[in-house]
Amino acid sequence: MLGKLLRNLPRLFRGGTRAPETATLQTGEANPLAEYFYNNPGRVMTKWDNYFEIYHRHFAGFRGRSPVVVEIGVERGGSLQMWHHYFGPGTRLVGIDIDTRCLQFQDDATTIMIGDQADRSFLAAIRERVPHIDILIDDGGHMMTQQIATFEELYPSVQPNGIYLCEDMHTSLWPSYGGGHRRPGTFLEYSKALVDKLSAWHSEGQPALPVDEFTRTTHSMHFYDSVVVIEKRPMKEPRSFRSAASPSMDD
Ligand SMILES: C[S@@+](CC[C@H](N)C(=O)[O-])C[C@H]1O[C@@H](n2cnc3c(N)ncnc32)[C@H](O)[C@@H]1O
Repeated sequence: MLGKLLRNLPRLFRGGTRAPETATLQTGEANPLAEYFYNNPGRVMTKWDNYFEIYHRHFAGFRGRSPVVVEIGVERGGSLQMWHHYFGPGTRLVGIDIDTRCLQFQDDATTIMIGDQADRSFLAAIRERVPHIDILIDDGGHMMTQQIATFEELYPSVQPNGIYLCEDMHTSLWPSYGGGHRRPGTFLEYSKALVDKLSAWHSEGQPALPVDEFTRTTHSMHFYDSVVVIEKRPMKEPRSFRSAASPSMDD
């Protein structure tokens, strides 16, 4: 396991600290997260340069609103500082890691919990301690069983209108992480199957796809290179309406 991880390190951390084009938004404005990252005043962190646009696109609405942000994968604590800076005062951070050294990053705004994200009883303990999550970022071990267990156990605690984001999903294409193109059981294949549930309201025939909790609580799924973002929102069965054509169009 350690050997496999070491072999993949150069691929996980390819790049450097140059500021790429993705440091700016399509509007030409600076992306605040990229700006922070490339001028990092805090602890070490490692990110792929395409992530900043994705984060800002889905997280911007939570800035200044004291969100509860859970991040699986603390490592050297750099991203926790970035999230605090980005979301602003009042943000509650919960960092989860298997490595007890991460406890040093606990502070007034930050709780650190130590455990294995594949361990469902540990995840149940997180659910108990952090029942309301606004944003969950899975940047932990990136193995398939870890990502699936974390999603299944913690997605229910993500609040209505909250966000679930899993990153580094390229491991779903890496055999050393349990991945492979179209291989059953990867988190990428698992997520693709969730897409069907968004439209379960319309399922006909046998066997029908049932409307379940995911259908009722999920607004949308967004797939990017290596990242999936799931946006929650209370959903109702959609209704189809026909509006009357204006008389001039009938002519
Ligand atoms: C990619 S690093 C996190 C980087 C950090 N989010 C950042 O951006 O600076 C992954 C972290 O996940 C942790 N990790 C690995 N396997 C884990 C597991 N099964 N459960 C919880 N954390 C795990 C590692 O100890 C490591 O600190």
